[in-house]
Amino acid sequence: MKFTVAIDGPAAAGKGTISKAIAEVFGFGHLDSGLLYRAVGIKTLEHGNGILDPVAAEDIAKHLTPEDLRRDDLRTGLAARAASKVAVLPNVRGALLEFQRIFARRDGGAVIDGRDIGTVICPEAEVKLFVTASAEIRARRRFEELKQTNADLTLDSVLNDVRARDKRDSEREMSPMVPAEDAVLLDTSELSIDAAVAKAVAIINERLEQGRD
Ligand code: CDP
Repeated sequence: MKFTVAIDGPAAAGKGTISKAIAEVFGFGHLDSGLLYRAVGIKTLEHGNGILDPVAAEDIAKHLTPEDLRRDDLRTGLAARAASKVAVLPNVRGALLEFQRIFARRDGGAVIDGRDIGTVICPEAEVKLFVTASAEIRARRRFEELKQTNADLTLDSVLNDVRARDKRDSEREMSPMVPAEDAVLLDTSELSIDAAVAKAVAIINERLEQGRD
């Protein structure tokens, strides 16, 4: 069975949590596509001693390994900033495209979260969700998550980072972050995680039912 759930949206809107829950409920494979960009970003920074060289980034994207995706520093603010900078490069996006497309159509179903899954990676996805929340609420969530490992962090700096990344992600020329025309919008500003997951599960169940008719 091929069944793809594409989940796009801005930083810390709840995509990751919802995707994991969906994968668990339906037994689908899950790919967090942000990890690909985070790994390319952090490796490119290391390679250039803090400078992001576009040619090196493309080469690193072409040779990314499963170990790169298991690094324990991919969730940092530094990796997120580097990710959104290498993510504007068409050659980096091109190098990561095929892997994501194959994953999306794997047998047994797939859920992929990112920014361009419903628009570019898998426009034929059976279910497309665009998960959002206000920038303030997203920054608060990300702050709570990151402050456990970074005591110097401030809410203001996280909010600035979130806004800068939203801007870069939605204004870039290639694969900007925009909801697909047929995406269902899910605003999680006022929703608990459980409520957001329940909504997503209901949407997928409805689509699966249609497939059986
Ligand atoms: O977890 P969070 O939403 O903060 O970020 P992420 O999904 O790990 O993505 C990190 C960065 O990678 C984003 O800000 C985007 O610039 C980039 N990205 C992208 O361009 N396309 C994707 N499909 C996924 C991530």
